[in-house]
Amino acid sequence: MLFIDTHTHLYLDEFDNDRRQVVENALSAGVTGLFLPNIDSKTVSPMLQLCESFPEYCYPMIGLHPTSVKEDYMAEIAHVESWLSTHHFYGIGECGLDYYWDKTFTREQEFVFRHHIELAMAYHLPLIVHIRDSFNEVIQILKDVNKPDLKGIFHCFSGSIEQAKQAIGFGFSLGLGGVITFKNNRMQETLKHIDLKHLVLETDAPFLAPVPHRGKRNEPSFIPLIAQKIAEIKNISTEEVAETTTGNAMKLFGIKPGPEA
Ligand code: NI
Repeated sequence: MLFIDTHTHLYLDEFDNDRRQVVENALSAGVTGLFLPNIDSKTVSPMLQLCESFPEYCYPMIGLHPTSVKEDYMAEIAHVESWLSTHHFYGIGECGLDYYWDKTFTREQEFVFRHHIELAMAYHLPLIVHIRDSFNEVIQILKDVNKPDLKGIFHCFSGSIEQAKQAIGFGFSLGLGGVITFKNNRMQETLKHIDLKHLVLETDAPFLAPVPHRGKRNEPSFIPLIAQKIAEIKNISTEEVAETTTGNAMKLFGIKPGPEA
């Protein structure tokens, strides 16, 4: 079985002591595609370094995370544009709206998000969307910009059936991670109503580790635990979850999977 982790921040400090081992763990678990969403101008270099070390398995993306939208957001945008003009990336993100942590820069977050949608269109790249306490605002922006060709992922999706259908209606896939393994989360019910063809897998490592690692550092080798849980909820085989979600991710990002370890 081959898997793709469509969302992992393996370049962060949390992995400084054992990054190579963590990649090897992923490959041993069959996770041969690691998509790296960027955070801000400080994370681009470590991200690209990781991609140089593992060019067959690591895929960089570029964008400004909503919680990194501060006073200097115009300089950060210029940074993203400059990288895009000189380097190949596989997606725009992560970007979006986060109204949970801090509401100081909500207008700036919205400006940056709209700008990232334009970049995704201009470079024909999928958009990796981060949403926290902002689902309706994100939907409203997608309606406003009205880009039927726009594709991407609602990262860490955990919404209602209605919200899932709205996201899918905009041509987006739903990124499912460790949260699906948590007790009493509404995504388990939502998932029963959503076809596998709309799903991709992700860890968001080092955050949101699945059960039985909940609360500890997450890593891409835990992807099969997420696939197993989805299989259990949908009453299908883990093989089917692996095959379909890997195919979905490859199609979305326009890649072939790396060689099996
Ligand atoms: Ni993330």
